[in-house]
Amino acid sequence: MPDLKKIGQAVYGWVNERLDLDPVIEHARAKTVPVHKHTFWYYWGGISLCLFLVQVVTGILLMIYYRPGPDAYASVREITYEIHFGWLIRSLHAWSANLMVAAVLVHMFSVFFMKAYQKPREFGWWTGLGLLALCMVFGFSGYLLPMDELSFFATKVGLSIPGIIPGVEPIISKIVRAGPEVNEFTLQRFFTLHVVVLPLLFIPLLAFHLFLIQKHGNALPPAERLKPAAGRKTIPFFPNFMLKDLAVWLIAINVLALLAAFYPWQLGPQADPIKPAPIGIHPEWYFMSQFELLKVVGRFLPGVSGEVAGIGLFTIGMVLWALVPLFDLETTGGRRGRAITYFGLFMLAGLVALTIFGYFDLK
Ligand code: HEM
Repeated sequence: MPDLKKIGQAVYGWVNERLDLDPVIEHARAKTVPVHKHTFWYYWGGISLCLFLVQVVTGILLMIYYRPGPDAYASVREITYEIHFGWLIRSLHAWSANLMVAAVLVHMFSVFFMKAYQKPREFGWWTGLGLLALCMVFGFSGYLLPMDELSFFATKVGLSIPGIIPGVEPIISKIVRAGPEVNEFTLQRFFTLHVVVLPLLFIPLLAFHLFLIQKHGNALPPAERLKPAAGRKTIPFFPNFMLKDLAVWLIAINVLALLAAFYPWQLGPQADPIKPAPIGIHPEWYFMSQFELLKVVGRFLPGVSGEVAGIGLFTIGMVLWALVPLFDLETTGGRRGRAITYFGLFMLAGLVALTIFGYFDLK
């Protein structure tokens, strides 16, 4: 039996002589992660990262057979019904996209309630918001690619919403939709966005986000900051926390695999632009709250003004959300800090309630 430990040490020694890895390992060993009753929430950024990696691998595999253009639907049919394990790769990609948005939302709210956006972590918050926005555009652009009935009509409705704002429709028509209706050129643009533009924006932003975490370490929640430094527990990042992180990734991948295998992603009938939209067309769940907000405001203010007011309200909410680090400056609580926590609870409750009502409100 070969001595694996000796072989490992010899290989490490060989690489280390050339790349001088010792300082990197020392740095990783010196880095610590706080241990307290909210440590569980530190795993969610890593879960988002794991699901993103799944997206990259499955996305590349799907690109081998996907054909953007007039053949798009036929190619997704082939992937789903003819190519070995094509259905599984497609299902993993679609489920992982949804789980990733969910994980990113959990991560964002946990960061919020731990007040991990406070100085010096403001850029972590802003780059994170950028990543969330990109995740949603990834989802929206990917949704159209199969060109089935649901994806076609949901995209049609989704693109018509910003067009309500005076002056925006011609821009959407020219730049995004490539015409007055969703068509093959829209698909071409969405494909380019999905596989070229978004990854080019996402990867450097993610790298910067991860660099910031390396630089600042994990934030302590306010209650822990009040404890004396000597009473705080930590564990080394390498290898202790990293191994726990990997165990959590394994759980995430298992959940994903079970969902993808037992609830394979469906393919509806091919989109027919001449046919009327089927009943109950709705966006993906992570756009449902915005969609419902427009409907609710529209009931109080019928017509275009209601929809514009709805978009305005949403924009104000998002701007306030982004600016939270500039308002919440007290590191160990205080009245303003508590008010901002209530604002977060209000946003979370609003998001959940509007998403649920949105499904009951479908016609
Ligand atoms: C694909 C999207 C994202 C990925 C892959 C990601 C990844 C990570 C990772 C691996 C960590 C370190 C572990 C942790 O604290 O959870 C982290 C921390 C952090 N993330 Fe994200 N993140 C994403 C989106 C977001 C969003 C949407 C926000 C907020 C708007 C955000 C804000 C932060 C902040 C402020 C920290 C530092 C937390 C601390 O110091 O404890 N991230 N992120």
